Amino acid sequence: MTLLNDKIVVITGGSSGIGKALVEAALARGARVAVCARNIEKLQSLFTTSDKLLCLKADVSKEADCHAFINTVTERWGRVDVLINNAGISMRALFEDVDLAVLKELMDVNFWGAVYCTKYAMSAIRNSKGVIAGVSSIAGYRGLPGRTGYSSSKFALQGFMEALRTELLHTGVHVMWVAPGFTASNIRNVARSNDGSAQAESPLDESKLMSADECARIIIDGIEKRKRTIVMTTQGKLAVWLNKLFPALADKIVYNHFLKEADSPLKRGGKG
Ligand SMILES: NC(=O)c1ccc[n+]([C@@H]2O[C@H](COP(=O)([O-])OP(=O)(O)OC[C@H]3O[C@@H](n4cnc5c(N)ncnc54)[C@H](OP(=O)(O)O)[C@@H]3O)[C@@H](O)[C@H]2O)c1
Repeated sequence: MTLLNDKIVVITGGSSGIGKALVEAALARGARVAVCARNIEKLQSLFTTSDKLLCLKADVSKEADCHAFINTVTERWGRVDVLINNAGISMRALFEDVDLAVLKELMDVNFWGAVYCTKYAMSAIRNSKGVIAGVSSIAGYRGLPGRTGYSSSKFALQGFMEALRTELLHTGVHVMWVAPGFTASNIRNVARSNDGSAQAESPLDESKLMSADECARIIIDGIEKRKRTIVMTTQGKLAVWLNKLFPALADKIVYNHFLKEADSPLKRGGKG
């Protein structure tokens, strides 16, 4: 029997990538899973109907949706043991070119979405002495060029989580975040460009990245072991370490890395 057996696990953004894999991994460990996404038809089509799975439509950037999502879970199952704030979007555009609405949208989904869901699940998780997890990114440790809004949202998420962890130190509630490295998913296809439209094509060879299943397995293991934080992939660990010890060198290495990316915005407009 696993630690998640018969626990109530709430996951945001389960219609694709890491979120979909998290749902499958939690179900495989015997949990009852409540999951949301905006595209409810897609979400429902991905999983076999089961009394252990609750698929709900919610846009986490809307406080009322988050409130209704969590309320439905507690009304149905009476408890929340684990909340995984996973829903997220990315961007690829230089700050000087991008509409500010893009940065606001990223903060609304990646930061405020996690804050709203955590707020409404708070008393249930306090009662269960459960786990609040945030899916951050290496971009939450190291600002990335062309991703000002994304890095801001993930730094904000980690600051929120760290402060909350300290507030809850003596309550039995565990607060943690995980920072996946590049992971194969849909995130780069729907990443916002200058005007907020999806960039459509990933600049990376997704087949060479960590799989979403592997990423989800590491996250679920980390939740069961109540890890403090998890930084994934060799490249990700190196980036976090280098940035801590040699931040000026990290600026140059990170710049050069993203300059080489296919169709890098750093090249556009002669900025390379
Ligand atoms: N893939 C990577 O390389 C990578 C690396 C580091 C961190 N991460 C983080 O991992 C998390 C999952 O990303 P992913 O790579 O799996 O991306 P993905 O394949 O694009 O999946 C994102 C999920 O979030 C949902 N979502 C987006 N906006 C939402 C909203 N406003 N309300 C509710 N759900 C929303 C999407 O569903 P709908 O569109 O149906 O709403 C989808 O299910 C994100 O927080 C991301 O920042 C990813």
